Amino acid sequence: MKIGILTSGGDCPALNAVIRGFAKYVYQNVKDAEIYGIADGYGGLIAGEYKKMRPEDFSGILNVGGTILGTSRQPFKKMTVEENNSTKIEKMKKNYKKMGLDCLVCLGGAGTHKSAGLLCAEGLNVIGLPKTIDNDIFGTDVTFGFYSAVDVATECIDRVHTTAASHGRTMLVEIMGNKVGWLTLYAGLAGGADIILLPEIPFDTDVVCKKVRERAEAGKAFSIIAIAEGAVQTSEAGLKKKERAALRAQTGDVTATNRLARDINARAGVETRVVVPGHLQRGGNPSALDRALSTEVGAYAGYLCKEGLFGTTVAIRGEKITHNKIADIAGKTKWVPLDHPMIEAGRRIGVSFGDEN
Ligand code: F6P
Repeated sequence: MKIGILTSGGDCPALNAVIRGFAKYVYQNVKDAEIYGIADGYGGLIAGEYKKMRPEDFSGILNVGGTILGTSRQPFKKMTVEENNSTKIEKMKKNYKKMGLDCLVCLGGAGTHKSAGLLCAEGLNVIGLPKTIDNDIFGTDVTFGFYSAVDVATECIDRVHTTAASHGRTMLVEIMGNKVGWLTLYAGLAGGADIILLPEIPFDTDVVCKKVRERAEAGKAFSIIAIAEGAVQTSEAGLKKKERAALRAQTGDVTATNRLARDINARAGVETRVVVPGHLQRGGNPSALDRALSTEVGAYAGYLCKEGLFGTTVAIRGEKITHNKIADIAGKTKWVPLDHPMIEAGRRIGVSFGDEN
């Protein structure tokens, strides 16, 4: 069986752990298995850049961050746009055939799964694996990379905590997640943030300032705010992405974080600082939990290959490992539900989500 494997979209810790789990399963259980590593995600399949892997290429990578295959972002919107008489999807289909593949394994996030859906519709045998620190892939409780990012983001908040306390400042830590707030919610709770602002719950600046003031009046001179990259103020909530970007550009802002920091400074009279850990949350080695999860999902993808269960993507539901049809999950987003137990837990201990009256 000839299998192509690629990692697509933003990287995350544990991609290599998944690749390793997959390869180990396949070499041991699939007859005449040959694995071809495709360079830089869909980009490599479009350009026909790949190499035959050897079993030893997959050794010693369990705990190594990044991806041995390389990755790139290939926007879904451009997949069906014609360039030089052919679309990217057509080029990928052509190279899949040229390589003589029986199956293509795609490790990626929401965008990767959308494009995988197009490849399935073209008749390619595709198996997906849910990767992203954002944890927003529909139909799976968790995605690999998420737990490692939670650990990093939590450590950032921990470190900010001590300096905030020393100076009596309000510190805003901007956590990755331009669409959903899973990472901010988990790291915010784990790091003991006083205020957690998620894209799913538009925040009222007055509510945030009030909370900061109340803490100061109660003798707690510092406050920690975990704010998602995609958090929105109530006044911006109805705007389209482009309109919001244009509005923010007027004050030189990209996200809501710096503006909120200025507002707290002016309205609550508290000194503020902003910390943006950014790609630190995607870099470095996977956590122990992620390594174990990745080994499990990688091996399961190998099993899907062996059984010929194509057009599917691996999913975790509760304690069980299973799979969804790519067609059923592509293009859908797993938002943080407003009644999520972690939100309720936060509210019970007095964490503000910026929406109270
Ligand atoms: O999807 C993962 C993610 O890290 C988002 O949280 C973030 O907004 C985005 O990727 C950043 O993308 P890039 O690495 O292309 O700047």
